[in-house]
Amino acid sequence: MPRSIYIETYGCQMNLADTEIINGILNEQGYELATDPEHADAVFMNTCAIREHAEQRIYGRLSNFAHLKKRNPRMVFGILGCMAERLRKDLFERNSIIDIVCGPDEYRRLPALIDEALLGEQGVRTQLSRVETYDDIVPLRTEGLSAWISVMRGCDKFCTYCVVPFTRGRERSRSLHGVVSEARELFDRGFREVTLLGQNVNSYRDGDHDFAALLAAVSSVDACLRVRFTTSHPQDMSDALIDTIAAHENICNYIHLPFQSGSDRILDLMNRSYTREHYLDLIWRIRERIPTVALSTDIIAGFPTETEEEHLMTLSLLEEVRFDSAFMFKYSPREKTRAWSMGDDIQDAVKGRRLEEIIDVQRRISYEINQTRIGKMERILIEGASKRSEEEWMGRTDTNKSVIIPESNISPGSYADVRIVAATSATLFGETPTPVAVRAA
Ligand code: 5AD
Ligand code: SF4
Repeated sequence: MPRSIYIETYGCQMNLADTEIINGILNEQGYELATDPEHADAVFMNTCAIREHAEQRIYGRLSNFAHLKKRNPRMVFGILGCMAERLRKDLFERNSIIDIVCGPDEYRRLPALIDEALLGEQGVRTQLSRVETYDDIVPLRTEGLSAWISVMRGCDKFCTYCVVPFTRGRERSRSLHGVVSEARELFDRGFREVTLLGQNVNSYRDGDHDFAALLAAVSSVDACLRVRFTTSHPQDMSDALIDTIAAHENICNYIHLPFQSGSDRILDLMNRSYTREHYLDLIWRIRERIPTVALSTDIIAGFPTETEEEHLMTLSLLEEVRFDSAFMFKYSPREKTRAWSMGDDIQDAVKGRRLEEIIDVQRRISYEINQTRIGKMERILIEGASKRSEEEWMGRTDTNKSVIIPESNISPGSYADVRIVAATSATLFGETPTPVAVRAA
């Protein structure tokens, strides 16, 4: 009888893409995917270690699983991903139901690790690699419209707060050819949007090909295929890349460009390698070339030694740039990072209050920007019924905004033009859309 696995994924989009790689590896070995943990032979959690809170959630979830192990001691439990890489064999001591600990570069070992676990042996594999990109693995994806393609792994930036360089190792890129053929196969299967993923996609390199070349190559797969990408580091955002986005209709006018802090002193302590002025200059260069661009960012509140004045600089940067949206976090100290030794002197209540202030400013700006869309036409890719109701449908603009529309007979995967009639800080609402054919330029 075939064995079955159940995987839960936590954290970033990179982990979602990795889960599809893991499923690809195990499927090749005859494993089936279980839809609930009760009936699986192996239960995996693909984990995140970026903030303390992410790890607490995993421990909470593991305690929910304890009864399954009691009922069936042969059920195999595995911790995969960044938390596995960070804590390694310590995880066995922290939780007794764990049989397998496997880091992000060791997923090819999972079939063997499961076999050993079924014989009662605990296994830990956390070697990081300079070359592993899983370029030859076919990720197992459920059908859909939108797919992640990981194009590079690891990060060499060593921002001082960030654990990723320790949990995902050094930067390495997949081949341009491998990425393009994956995008083509996805398009042929009916996918209409791909997001190219990496911790820092701008430093992608395959021989002479940089990220601008990769984006252009993927965009040439078909004019109906939307191409997105994330994450960009301000330091490596070249003019050639901005021009490539501007030149291709199907490369989305949406850039996620984390700035983290509005203060030069804090940026320096973070090892971000740019100043506020450089960052703003980059924003104006992008807006000059791509006037309709939507921008989002990441912000950390309460980095060690951050003063009230420096926090206000973060707020003023938000006002100056006016991002469409932002991901906002309280600083969380991580062992091994350089910021760990800077202490964690900002009290939790102060971090919380600063974060609230950041969220309030950003929510107002997102609302104001979305209000300006009312009365305008937007081109959306229809995704189907919205999460809330079968009677409401949802589509997404090129600028990554969700548009709720009345139930429609336009098939998901088609493009349509819609007039916006209302907006909140997170969502646009449209009238009945008109289908459009998208043609090669
Ligand atoms: N504490 C808080 N936020 C962090 N991030 C990364 N490390 C930490 C940390 N230790 C945030 C950064 C990054 C995003 C993915 O997570 O803003 O851009
Ligand atoms: Fe972490 Fe900085 Fe690398 Fe992003 S660029 S993964 S924040 S070290």
